[in-house]
Amino acid sequence: MAFRARHLLGIEHLTPEDIRSVLDLAETYVDLNRRTVKQSDVLAGMTQINMFFENSTRTQASFELAGKRLGADVMNMSVAQSSVKKGETLIDTALTLNAMHPDLLVVRHPSSGAVNLLASKVNCAVLNAGDGRHEHPTQALLDALTIRRAKGRIQRLTVAICGDVAHSRVARSNLILLGKMENRVRLIAPPTLMPPGVQEFGCEIFDDMRAGLEGADVVMMLRLQKERMDGGFIPSEREYFHRYGLDGDKLSCARPDAIVMHPGPMNRGVEIDGEIADDINRSVIQEQVEMGVAVRMACMDLLARNLRAERGAQAVGVMV
Ligand code: NCD
Repeated sequence: MAFRARHLLGIEHLTPEDIRSVLDLAETYVDLNRRTVKQSDVLAGMTQINMFFENSTRTQASFELAGKRLGADVMNMSVAQSSVKKGETLIDTALTLNAMHPDLLVVRHPSSGAVNLLASKVNCAVLNAGDGRHEHPTQALLDALTIRRAKGRIQRLTVAICGDVAHSRVARSNLILLGKMENRVRLIAPPTLMPPGVQEFGCEIFDDMRAGLEGADVVMMLRLQKERMDGGFIPSEREYFHRYGLDGDKLSCARPDAIVMHPGPMNRGVEIDGEIADDINRSVIQEQVEMGVAVRMACMDLLARNLRAERGAQAVGVMV
């Protein structure tokens, strides 16, 4: 089995074999999660702490459920009530938690790079649950699993990523993953929402939805990230929906069997028409949520194996 890392900080550090290992193991957890009794003891005796410095509904719930189903003791640190609000630095918070001997730390933070910094200060495995505009690796992995199940493969597909690419860690992690797995990626966004230097990723760039969706197998919509905008990036939401919102008319430019994805939370009527989001023949948005739990279980399982191997090796070293 591949995936030998201590942490899961980004897709950037994974090989295609690592990605395949996560997806294959996640398939077994999809089956477990569909049973009435969803319990495993893979993380029994281990402590998982979730630290979300930014709002989250599905990612936090998904990590919590994943840890509990694997038998870990899971604690959600409520950042709103913690010493962070009293001015404690991220590093001090990390060192304090580290002294409590967690095995897995799940961290979301509004600053790009904050999770990597924290990982360098602790003795446990750290999972990045989204850092600023940088990476959101478990989202890209759950998207890959959803695509693989719907399309039967995760290679040689044409994937259109549409909307607020500039502010999106989901877009970045997906772009890296889909590129590593040899897919053709197209980015569709107004010029104001396209990040600079995006050409380096070797994808095709469009500012017209219909042209960009032509022949796409997968249409991945992104939320307009208003909380990361400090100026007028779009003329108005109505105008944005008219030009970049996914509706039946624009979707008809993609392949007839194209699937529609969205990481959530959705702004219905802004980046996506509610009817398309709810169309069970096209939308796999609910399946993405289901795959999220399974993928997070697989990631934590693999990291826990590495942690045990590392600690076992250290213990032997001490005895010698
Ligand atoms: C995404 C995130 O937080 O980056 N959401 C999520 O994790 N499901 C995307 C978003 O907030 O738009």
